[in-house]
Amino acid sequence: MMIRLFFRLAFLFFCCLPLAYATDNDAEMLKLFKNKICLGCHQVDAKRVGPSFNMVREKYQQDSEMTADILATRIRSGGSGVWGALRMPPQPKVSQEEAFLMAQWILGKGE
Ligand code: HEC
Repeated sequence: MMIRLFFRLAFLFFCCLPLAYATDNDAEMLKLFKNKICLGCHQVDAKRVGPSFNMVREKYQQDSEMTADILATRIRSGGSGVWGALRMPPQPKVSQEEAFLMAQWILGKGE
């Protein structure tokens, strides 16, 4: 009886470890998006001023030309015309490394 319980707990522990890591990283990234004021205009799953990060991922999922590098550059330089008439201002406070992490996270979520 105790042994079975032990195995069950061990199983739960090991199967949930990757999950815990994933959410840790998500939390870190959300903190970064928040600190860089991205969340003032973007949400992960709802359109605000700009597209939701999920919409961005879906748009580029089938697009073999889109890479995290390209998207990172777009995050830093801002732009308009891809999603509508509204303009995203340049983000000089975001380093290329940070932008790359953000772009990777946006493109890779759910994979
Ligand atoms: C003042 C509002 C605003 C802020 C702040 C902002 N964005 Fe945007 N973002 C927009 C708008 C508007 C668009 C749509 C631009 C377009 O249609 O090309 C956009 C587009 C995007 C896209 C899609 C680009 C593409 O080419 O498809 C990404 C990714 C993105 N933003 C990420 C971010 C990140 C990361 C931050 C924080 C560093 C951020 N945005 C801050 C308004 C904002």
